[in-house]
Amino acid sequence: MSTWANLGLQDSASPLMEQLIFFHDHALLILVMITVLVGYLMFMLFFNNYVNRFLLHGQLIEMIWTILPAIILLFIALPSLRLLYLLDEINEPSVTLKSIGHQWYWSYEYSDFNNIEFDSYMIPTNELATDGFRLLDVDNRVILPMNSQIRILVTAADVIHSWTVPALGVKVDGTPGRLNQTNFFINRPGLFYGQCSEICGANHSFMPIVIESVPVNYFIKWISSNNS
Ligand code: CUA
Repeated sequence: MSTWANLGLQDSASPLMEQLIFFHDHALLILVMITVLVGYLMFMLFFNNYVNRFLLHGQLIEMIWTILPAIILLFIALPSLRLLYLLDEINEPSVTLKSIGHQWYWSYEYSDFNNIEFDSYMIPTNELATDGFRLLDVDNRVILPMNSQIRILVTAADVIHSWTVPALGVKVDGTPGRLNQTNFFINRPGLFYGQCSEICGANHSFMPIVIESVPVNYFIKWISSNNS
């Protein structure tokens, strides 16, 4: 999760988030190179005394400074497109989780296993444990197995919400009347925090998401203990 002064992306907990971070760094590197070059050029303009009274056209330089940016953009567009298709891929999921956005909490359904379903509310500050995370901890966590492909279906019951967990690289809108799908793979155990990221009303900031990633046998134990 994010803590104080963490301005960059969170550490990834899934292969897709790792790829997203690589792409972010790649795009940022290109951005820095362009900014430095243009910044240098603009700065140097203040100090030059050269005047060319007979300059009317420059076919060659205009060809260069039109085509060169287009080529640079390709170096961003192609990896971006690769990532886009990678994020959309579904790889034989072993668990399907359905999450439904409400004003203002999430509810979850594990339809593969005896229809387990529960609501997940933020813990209010006055009820928070001393080691709890304010505005981030919930009463019922989403338990998921690590090292497994997980499919998530997102929808909403009232207005548009967005199921967003940065460490997993997941951000899917929950839209009333529609079912959105994505897929992720958690590669380590731990708690992963997320928040709704679609302005959905007065308590938009108070519908966090907590994923508890556990080894597969723990998950099976949890699932079995929930079957009544
Ligand atoms: Cu739900 Cu913002």
